[in-house]
Amino acid sequence: MRVPLVAGNWKMNTTVIEAEELVYDILDTLDRIKGVEKVLCPPFVSLAAINMMLQGSSIKLGAQNMHFETKGAYTGEISPLMLRELCEFVILGHSERRWYFGETGEMINKKLNAALTHGLKPILCVGERLEENETGRTEEIVRKQVRTALNDIKLTPDLVVAYEPVWAIGTGKAASSKQAAATIKLIRSILAELWNKDIAQNLRILYGGSVTSNNIAEFISQPEIDGALVGGASLKAEEFLNIVTQTAEIKGKPV
Ligand code: PGA
Repeated sequence: MRVPLVAGNWKMNTTVIEAEELVYDILDTLDRIKGVEKVLCPPFVSLAAINMMLQGSSIKLGAQNMHFETKGAYTGEISPLMLRELCEFVILGHSERRWYFGETGEMINKKLNAALTHGLKPILCVGERLEENETGRTEEIVRKQVRTALNDIKLTPDLVVAYEPVWAIGTGKAASSKQAAATIKLIRSILAELWNKDIAQNLRILYGGSVTSNNIAEFISQPEIDGALVGGASLKAEEFLNIVTQTAEIKGKPV
């Protein structure tokens, strides 16, 4: 039984004060929504303040990236040891990290390993670019990204995967729910090949890319899709609450 998960990826948006205001606006309502795991991923600088605000609530916290080393001379980086005092989840391999900051599959694999070693739950993002989609290479690309990221990673129930076609991120042009469900089914079959069928059946696989309150119902109604990684729409209080509410109504499970 997979408990649905909705995560808000705030990306490089909100100052600490703005982040606190946004949490203040959603906290009570979001806390009361049952049957869905709710995760907020604000910028690093707001994690400590928001961690305090979320104490005693049902809302969980995640980071947007992480270095794979625990400490050392890596100016500007944040380690798993720093994060684990503050949050439970960490987004890894987001396409913006891959394409704007040159993160390779091998780096993402090291990060995944480090996150799991230090007790953080990774939300691993994979997804093809437009030209790859248009030339029918989605399966090949997604397979390669999943296999590289999980190379030598021990079987774990803590992994969450997010399928985010790059062409759907921040473009207002979401994938169709059928397309997304088909790729998510493929990802589940790759996990079953890598680990085993039982664990693959129990892992959550989310859809991400231009999710809004207008299309969430379509995605979440697909049996394969276990939730959403929401970017732009997670910055608007009403919109995010609406997305989580619909997810709970359609797929909520006792947690
Ligand atoms: P979007 O971003 O919802 O703004 O398309 C999703 C993401 O990048 O996780």
